[in-house]
Amino acid sequence: MKHNNIPLIEALLEYNKKNMLRFHTPGHKGGKGAEKTIKDIFGKNVFLYDLTEVDGLDDLHNPKAAIMKAQELLSEVYGSDRSFFLVNGATTGVEAMLMAAAGPGEEVVIDRNCHYSAINGLILNGATPVYMMPEIDKRTGLVLGPSRHTLIQTLKKHPGAKALFIVSPTYFGICYDLKSISDIVHEHNIPLIVDEAHGPHLGFHPDFAVSAMQAGADACCQSPHKILGSFTQSSWLHVKGNMIDLERLKKALQVLQSSSPSYLLMASLDSARFFVSSRGRREFDRIISMVRDARVRINNITGLFSPQIMIGDFTIAVPDYTKLTVNVRDSGLNGKRVAYILRNEYKIQPEFADRDNLLFIITCGDNPNKIEALIDALKSIARMNKTVESTNKADWVYPAPKVEIIPRDAFFAHKRRVELKKAAGLISAETVAPYPPGVPLLAPGERITPEIVELILQMEENGIQFHGPEDTRLETIKTVEESLQ
Ligand SMILES: Cc1ncc(COP(=O)(O)O)c(C=O)c1O
Repeated sequence: MKHNNIPLIEALLEYNKKNMLRFHTPGHKGGKGAEKTIKDIFGKNVFLYDLTEVDGLDDLHNPKAAIMKAQELLSEVYGSDRSFFLVNGATTGVEAMLMAAAGPGEEVVIDRNCHYSAINGLILNGATPVYMMPEIDKRTGLVLGPSRHTLIQTLKKHPGAKALFIVSPTYFGICYDLKSISDIVHEHNIPLIVDEAHGPHLGFHPDFAVSAMQAGADACCQSPHKILGSFTQSSWLHVKGNMIDLERLKKALQVLQSSSPSYLLMASLDSARFFVSSRGRREFDRIISMVRDARVRINNITGLFSPQIMIGDFTIAVPDYTKLTVNVRDSGLNGKRVAYILRNEYKIQPEFADRDNLLFIITCGDNPNKIEALIDALKSIARMNKTVESTNKADWVYPAPKVEIIPRDAFFAHKRRVELKKAAGLISAETVAPYPPGVPLLAPGERITPEIVELILQMEENGIQFHGPEDTRLETIKTVEESLQ
């Protein structure tokens, strides 16, 4: 099949050329029924091409025409056996992969550094999580993935586990040695499932880490909307080999995805695939050279540090070139304060900031002038370091999670909000993920020990912020009513 075809774009152009009288959804009828304000902002083409499943187009849940061709091209380009478009982000992909791999009463070995969509996947599939705690890089506080020992021991202790689920690259762009992980996991005859939301570009340049598909994973999902220029929410999923039950995966995707998938999203996926297979290599050369240069220059700014290579115990973690992490631990600056100054004084918006690290996403939409502006701003801010608060470098030792009830039961249980200081001994109904490092300290269904309460209080004193709990100040926490479960 020709990789320079973009079947979904062609199908949309074809449909519009016919100038049909539209007696079908969407109700804006090519824009005629849409509000002027939104038309003025988005332009009329958005409405003309905002179509969903009508005769002449295709059906995402049973594709036979343009979607089928586009997914086949995607699969060829990424080296999978089957690939699927997703219209609700990699979130849907993570959930569907977990629903395909395990069910109620079964165990899944899971990276503790997972995105909350993985916990949602466990709520959906009713499986029991067996978490692997990651190593943390001492200098930056960044997560390096599970150690070899942890991976091997966890698989040994849980011989009945149905799958191993891991996140690589991490949000901060740290890539794991998936080839070695895949070899170990396959010795146990279970599938390796990778949340590769941040890696749709991997495999398209020799300086990048290998992709999950190249490393031998059985399934992975990716978010091209994060890196490759497709519309927000558009993602895809790849499967290779026969360890994943394809029919169950397709059914899960049907359960999770809309019956009116947006052709704008899917056409943008088709063109992202075209981009990566036609221009990717050239554009990635450009990104690599910009980011290599930026890392060297940032490392010359006193107190700032941008990691080039990070070695974990198990993984050789090569930072991804589309993620520029700036660590401020040695500078006396607080990362959140730096982000505030960047936004308000320099009109620079980072992707993310916590106390110790700032994260900047670099894609083919960037250029050396933008990087120059960022580095100039960082230099100026680093010079102000006496005027901002100093960060405490405490490293935290996490207690092993005590899963008392599975995430699904915690989700459906009756809940009670209690003061954090009185919560020891109860079961958490919420995820509590301190940033840094971003690894959950508690997930739904886990026992809150006195040690955990103490750790949260110490972290708060050290300016750590918490993601997950409804009460973001964590004065209170939602717990499971054990008697009413
Ligand atoms: C590691 C990881 N996995 C999955 C997701 C979900 O991806 P999406 O936003 O495409 O649904 C995210 C989102 O940030 C993520 O960081």
